[in-house]
Amino acid sequence: MADVRSPTLPDAQTAVEAPPSPTHVTIRREDYRPPDWLVPEIALNFTLGIESTRVQSKLQVERNPEAADKGDVIRLNGDGLKPAGVWIDGTPTDKWSMDCGDLLIELSGEAHEIGIEVEINPAANTKLMGLYASNGMLCTQCEAQGFRRITFFPDRPDVLSKYRVRMEGDAGQFPILLSNGNRIAHGDSADGRHWAEFEDPFPKPSYLFALVAGDLKANRDTFTTMSGRKVDLAVWVREADLPKTQHAMDSLKLAMAWDEKVYGREYDLDQFNIVAVGDFNMGAMENKSLNIFNSAYVLADQETATDADFDNIARVVAHEYFHNWSGDRVTCRDWFQLSLKEGFTVFRDQSFSADVGSPPVKRIEDVRVLRAVQFPEDQGPLAHPVRPDSYIEISNFYTATVYNKGAELIRMFHTVLGPEKFRAGTDLYFDRNDGKAATCDDFVAALEGGSGVDLEPFKIWYSQAGTPKVRARIEHDAEAKIATLHLEQHVDPTPGQPDKQPMPIPLRTALIGSETGHEICPERLIVLDQARQSVMFENVTEPPLLSINRNFSAPIIVEAERSPGELERLAQTDTDPFARYEAMQELMMRALVVGARGGDMDREPVVRAIGATLRSNSLDPAFKADAIMLPSESLIADRMDVVDPDAIHAAREELRSAIGSALHDELIAAHRSDSAAGDDLSPAAKGVRRLRTVALGLVGAANPSEAAGLAKAQFDRADNMTDRQGALGVLVSLDAPEREAALEAFYHRFHDDPLVLDKWFALQASAQRADTVDQVLRLAKHPDFVMTNPNRLRSVAGVFGANHWAFHSADGRGYAFLADMIIAADKLNPQVAARMVPPFGRWRRFEPKRAAMMRQQLERIAATPGLSKDVYEQVTKSLA
Ligand code: BES
Ligand code: ZN
Repeated sequence: MADVRSPTLPDAQTAVEAPPSPTHVTIRREDYRPPDWLVPEIALNFTLGIESTRVQSKLQVERNPEAADKGDVIRLNGDGLKPAGVWIDGTPTDKWSMDCGDLLIELSGEAHEIGIEVEINPAANTKLMGLYASNGMLCTQCEAQGFRRITFFPDRPDVLSKYRVRMEGDAGQFPILLSNGNRIAHGDSADGRHWAEFEDPFPKPSYLFALVAGDLKANRDTFTTMSGRKVDLAVWVREADLPKTQHAMDSLKLAMAWDEKVYGREYDLDQFNIVAVGDFNMGAMENKSLNIFNSAYVLADQETATDADFDNIARVVAHEYFHNWSGDRVTCRDWFQLSLKEGFTVFRDQSFSADVGSPPVKRIEDVRVLRAVQFPEDQGPLAHPVRPDSYIEISNFYTATVYNKGAELIRMFHTVLGPEKFRAGTDLYFDRNDGKAATCDDFVAALEGGSGVDLEPFKIWYSQAGTPKVRARIEHDAEAKIATLHLEQHVDPTPGQPDKQPMPIPLRTALIGSETGHEICPERLIVLDQARQSVMFENVTEPPLLSINRNFSAPIIVEAERSPGELERLAQTDTDPFARYEAMQELMMRALVVGARGGDMDREPVVRAIGATLRSNSLDPAFKADAIMLPSESLIADRMDVVDPDAIHAAREELRSAIGSALHDELIAAHRSDSAAGDDLSPAAKGVRRLRTVALGLVGAANPSEAAGLAKAQFDRADNMTDRQGALGVLVSLDAPEREAALEAFYHRFHDDPLVLDKWFALQASAQRADTVDQVLRLAKHPDFVMTNPNRLRSVAGVFGANHWAFHSADGRGYAFLADMIIAADKLNPQVAARMVPPFGRWRRFEPKRAAMMRQQLERIAATPGLSKDVYEQVTKSLA
């Protein structure tokens, strides 16, 4: 038996040595087995301290009748823990040992009570997983495998327990004590200490456990549910931040009402708490009744938050709230099913944001994110299915594929079934799986059961990775008035999946008359499910223009045979706003790809289409801003066989400058158009502000000094962060005296506000300038730069990695910088470090010099002693 003071493995929370290679094992979906032991109840007792917290746990364990293994050992996962004592049925025992951080206890009977005591150091927890300290408060993050850093437990989502939590701490240091569920008792103890006890009536997996202790103040409100129950709502922040909490509270109430109306889902406890913390790995976390948020997704006011920040807060608040049903009441059987809760909940939050804002603008933004992040993932070395087959580190699988492509999959179900049948399906899903840990197959089965529609063919979207490419060509027989649409689909090989099957692809399709501009064949839903397929349209009285994948009905790449003239016409006449946007993007993309290959760009159709968009009286400003924005450099790179970032940048700048000079007056008019009060957060006002800045950026491409003057004026008179940040965003990429002045003024005014200071770092790291690498090297040495805060690290290194031209600087210094940051960050926070690896992932597609340098940096990272499994997995897969 192991001795308490000499565990088998070093303490992972303090270890500096490389973990032995057995920890880098691959976990496979096919190896899933039900748990050997269940834990119907757990009682936790915390004695709180920033540097030392004692955790006493009592687990009621019983054999799982469904388990295959009838062995006499229970494995309780642990990460960096040492047991200070173990009890079986109240008696101290030495019948335990350690294995790879886990605690193994010998048990002979059918059911026992296990007692365990451990001590942890929240202040030393730089991974921000488990219990950690942030600005003097204590908080937790347990998804996916953080609970095992708090106490020993079968830390897997299919073990559901009722939690009873007691905590005690210094009343001055921790005036507020929170955990999941209802506070059932509280009181004072000796020496200025106090305690509270919580009970969560809903059994939950350990990843949903939460605890918060600190000096917090609440913005309080109530919500009355559809059945008339009153829920107490609270948004907890540091006192000084209270004035910035109203938008989060308003968003929460909107989300609660929306889920009742659209999904029939009601909140199920008497309290709902949101807590903001300054140090947080992700955006936010849906712990039952105690959501913990990165403060970036809670705090907002007109002076410090942009319109995009306000929208993101509403979205994230809604997302985490929606998890109460899609995640908490019905959870995931194992982490391979992650998209069951995340893909579905992203679809739900997207629908919510569309409903409270502008649906077409929201759709365009969601597709832009999908293309910017998920498509590259699907086409690179880290490609994986929405339901992955294996992982080394589960944190690496909180990806755009699981989230955003997963949401597109749910959207396809919604499209194919229609809203009523879809709702019947989700009703059945929630009823049937309430209180259970479910799978993606269970979800599809419920949609089928509720709708009566066979969805079996669509399941391939869960298992087959890669973005389908669909070729489309329309043929018109003028005499017979028949148009034939010829479709072909193809999916490229991805790692581990060399041969692909055809997938069912729902294509909303219409035909627009090229002469009249009318919808000559109204929209219909075509499901392409063969490698090749042809579809006929009758009564086609004039040459048709193909409007396909309307509203982006499937997450695919469409390669349609359409001339620039046809695209220009569609950009002005298509009856689907998304398709209009798409026609504009395609028009610009065609020119840019030619330019990036060194050819002569056909600018005229682009300039005409943008001019027409700007002059249109029927389009709203937000749509105009989206439509006239050029495809990003990385999107252009995705279309190149061999990527030359300098050529792409030059072509894009050339086109921007051509637009800026040809449409100078229209752009200035858009820039100066209608005023929008800084506190007006209506979609219309947001659109005006958006267009103002996008237009100014294009003016700057042709006439830098004029734009610098206008930007400085916008900056100086701004009464809101959107205009201020927008102006500064234009200035940072220009060579003008106004640039320094504005950066300095911004720093001077906001350096005490960490979230706004993040913007100051991020703006400079995103600048389109020849000296951006020098600038980020300088920023990384700035006294306000700290690597321990994920938001600050991302604002420099994360943003820089996404700055295509600068990151791919020909001298390789961008690569060296990001690799240095990854190596340094990995020692503190592997999860956040691993998320900075993907920009290196597509090295094979770059011209040989850059490809070699990128590969060299990946190899340098891989060779770093003591690399975490998080970074190890991303780097080795990128090199494979
Ligand atoms: N469950 C996640 C939070 C999470 C992610 C925990 C990864 C552990 C690892 C949460 O519901 C989530 O998805 N948050 C997103 C924001 C959301 C709006 C997509 C996030 O944190 O980025
Ligand atoms: Zn989520």
